[in-house]
Amino acid sequence: MPHMDIESVSVRPARDEDQRVLVALWDVCGLTRPWNHAPSDIAFACGRPHSDILVAEYEGRIVASAMVGHDGHRGTVYYVAADPALRGRGLGRLIMRAAEDWLVARGVWKLNLMVRRGNDAVTGFYATLGYGEDEVTVMSKRLQPMPHVIA
Ligand SMILES: CC(C)(COP(=O)(O)OP(=O)(O)OC[C@H]1O[C@@H](n2cnc3c(N)ncnc32)[C@H](O)[C@@H]1OP(=O)(O)O)[C@@H](O)C(=O)NCCC(=O)NCCS
Repeated sequence: MPHMDIESVSVRPARDEDQRVLVALWDVCGLTRPWNHAPSDIAFACGRPHSDILVAEYEGRIVASAMVGHDGHRGTVYYVAADPALRGRGLGRLIMRAAEDWLVARGVWKLNLMVRRGNDAVTGFYATLGYGEDEVTVMSKRLQPMPHVIA
């Protein structure tokens, strides 16, 4: 297992040039789906007033990510990912803490997140960080064809 000093990991907002590496990280973490278009997701979320993508960098390499945002009521995260070769060393905790801080800095006091059915392993991770399961059914509807054009 490669060595990594978690104290030397820094978090920053993603930049345009991170797109390829981010998509590769999400691919290897099993987060991309054919019905989503990750580059559009990145362009839509990055550096916006109500959303951003945070990346953790170690020795100049992106090793973790979280897309964070809020809808004027609750905060949420997507694409929470840690490099598979560097799991269990605090990267997930670090990037989630950065996402929580991002939300708190904007006055948001609650974070809701979705875990895909079947991704049971990850619920243990979120539980460790203090998240609990809600009695809700998540519903969704496609409002326009995808990928849409990003201004
Ligand atoms: C989820 C994920 C980001 C966790 O990253 P990580 O760097 O391994 O997590 P950390 O090392 O920071 O773990 C933080 C804590 O959670 C615990 N934890 C991590 N994975 C866990 C699991 N599957 N079950 C129970 N606890 C877990 C760790 O033991 C650690 O606890 P500790 O600080 O008390 O020792 C990583 O496994 C991942 O990228 N998974 C694939 C992508 C994914 O499913 N993302 C979430 C989509 S909703």
